[in-house]
Amino acid sequence: MSQLGTPERPLRVAIVGSGPSGFYAADELLKQSLTVKIDMFDKLPVPFGLVRYGVAPDHGKIKNVTKVFEKTANDPRFTFMGNVTVGKNISVFELKKFYDAIIFSYGAESDRHLGIAGEDLVGSYTATEFVAWYNGHPDFQDHHFDFSHEVAVIVGQGNVAMDVARILCKTTDELKKTDITQHALEVLAESKIKEVHVYGRRGPVQASFTPPEIKEMGELSDTYPIVNPSDLELNEASLAELEDTTHASRKKNYEILKHFTTIAPENRKRKFFMHFYRSPIEIIGKGRVQQAQFEINKLTGTAGSQKVRGTGQYETIDCGTFFRSVGYVGIPIKGLPFSSQSGIVPNQAGRIQDSEAIYNGMYVAGWIKRGASGIIGTNKPCSEETVKSLIEDLQHLNPCETPNTDAVLKFLKDREVRVVSFIDWKKIDAAEIERGTALGKPREKFVRVTGMLSVI
Ligand SMILES: Cc1cc2nc3c(=O)[nH]c(=O)nc-3n(C[C@H](O)[C@H](O)[C@H](O)COP(=O)(O)OP(=O)(O)OC[C@H]3O[C@@H](n4cnc5c(N)ncnc54)[C@H](O)[C@@H]3O)c2cc1C
Ligand SMILES: NC(=O)c1ccc[n+]([C@@H]2O[C@H](COP(=O)([O-])OP(=O)(O)OC[C@H]3O[C@@H](n4cnc5c(N)ncnc54)[C@H](OP(=O)(O)O)[C@@H]3O)[C@@H](O)[C@H]2O)c1
Repeated sequence: MSQLGTPERPLRVAIVGSGPSGFYAADELLKQSLTVKIDMFDKLPVPFGLVRYGVAPDHGKIKNVTKVFEKTANDPRFTFMGNVTVGKNISVFELKKFYDAIIFSYGAESDRHLGIAGEDLVGSYTATEFVAWYNGHPDFQDHHFDFSHEVAVIVGQGNVAMDVARILCKTTDELKKTDITQHALEVLAESKIKEVHVYGRRGPVQASFTPPEIKEMGELSDTYPIVNPSDLELNEASLAELEDTTHASRKKNYEILKHFTTIAPENRKRKFFMHFYRSPIEIIGKGRVQQAQFEINKLTGTAGSQKVRGTGQYETIDCGTFFRSVGYVGIPIKGLPFSSQSGIVPNQAGRIQDSEAIYNGMYVAGWIKRGASGIIGTNKPCSEETVKSLIEDLQHLNPCETPNTDAVLKFLKDREVRVVSFIDWKKIDAAEIERGTALGKPREKFVRVTGMLSVI
């Protein structure tokens, strides 16, 4: 038997998930001095994961990273197989028959719950579903969002919460030249929302949004920001955290928030409120969201390890729409271990392993490896670490039974799966851009899988 990674017996790697971590892993593998063959699977017919379905439509420049991923996809050693759900169309066990190693980079698609009463009321939504809906993800197009009430509440102060707040606050004019779906644009155009309130359980120094994102909230055409100056009063430990130069964005955030207290409405009609030191206790309503109750917190402890403590004082806000935006979590795939506590596949430097077993030739990268945190670029070193582990293991990998991509395609064809190639995707891409041009937008996405497949 020839050695894996040689021209006689190329190393065959499957990558499950075509988001940033999948593409960074592919790129890193292609850079190795090995003969390698990569097949990348995605459950959707279209690639790029959250770059397409997460990154906000009004942040178009960020999506240019797909040009880098396209270069990888054009490498002759790389094959894209879209429209294939691993765990459904092909099991992990079946996939392993065709590949010497598998890198699972399938992201963190679900969302964290608050665990409070009223979360399931009509009018209570998750940021995950709203973001996926306005970005045209086919699994979320039947969701309905009721924006007929004047007050919206968002719980969580990460960048996703900022995206949600911004999309709710922007005017149709501000959104219509983005790649937001036409349907979402029409629904948002009818929105009666006049106030968007974002709540964080900790203080302004501990918030996880980043300066460009919070700054934007002061620059919207019809919305002005409001912060209660008393929320900007800091205890000694927070003052020390603010001065910590290893976290420069804290001070920038704080200065932006202080600046917000000086901004005049200037005829802008919508209000964007930032509230700090408030934990959600209950969403209240008869049949639908009518109020949200918060407990007022204070922070105790030393700088860097302050804890939230409830004061026993409560406040209630009347609202018709409630979003939780408290983070994403991964979901399990049958055949892989899963930690439901952290929402990841347990691993050591990308090697899948739990307390019972080491999974030969099985790796993870990206959000399913380390949890749902970090920007697109954070996934590069993460995927590089995983590929390093894989290369270190090369001599110990169990070679697969059927080292042949055509055999995989035949297997999927026999299961009546219509595999979408990268060339097919480029046809979908071109059609979307053409549809967008007619509307003065960069693209108008197909929001149904049938629509995508009809182009090819
Ligand atoms: C709302 C939002 C906005 C963001 N905006 C920015 C931003 O502006 N700038 C920035 O730098 N970062 C941003 N990020 C962070 C960035 O998107 C992530 O760091 C990155 O996408 C994570 O990459 P990933 O490859 O691990 O997962 P993902 O990008 O989620 O990719 C996972 C892929 O796996 C596929 N998949 C899932 N299950 C299966 C299966 N069973 N079989 C086959 N395929 C499967 C999915 O379809 C998807 O294509 C944002 C994140 C969110 C949630
Ligand atoms: N423009 C961009 O670059 C961009 C855009 C979107 C997303 N992203 C990235 O994508 C990643 C995920 O973003 P995210 O916003 O989903 O997650 P995040 O940054 O982890 O923020 C989650 C927020 O939810 C809060 N939270 C969690 N549990 C809570 C609870 N039980 N009660 C109240 N609040 C709770 C957290 O507060 P605590 O801090 O107190 O835990 C935090 O404010 C981040 O790394 C983000 O930077 C980047």
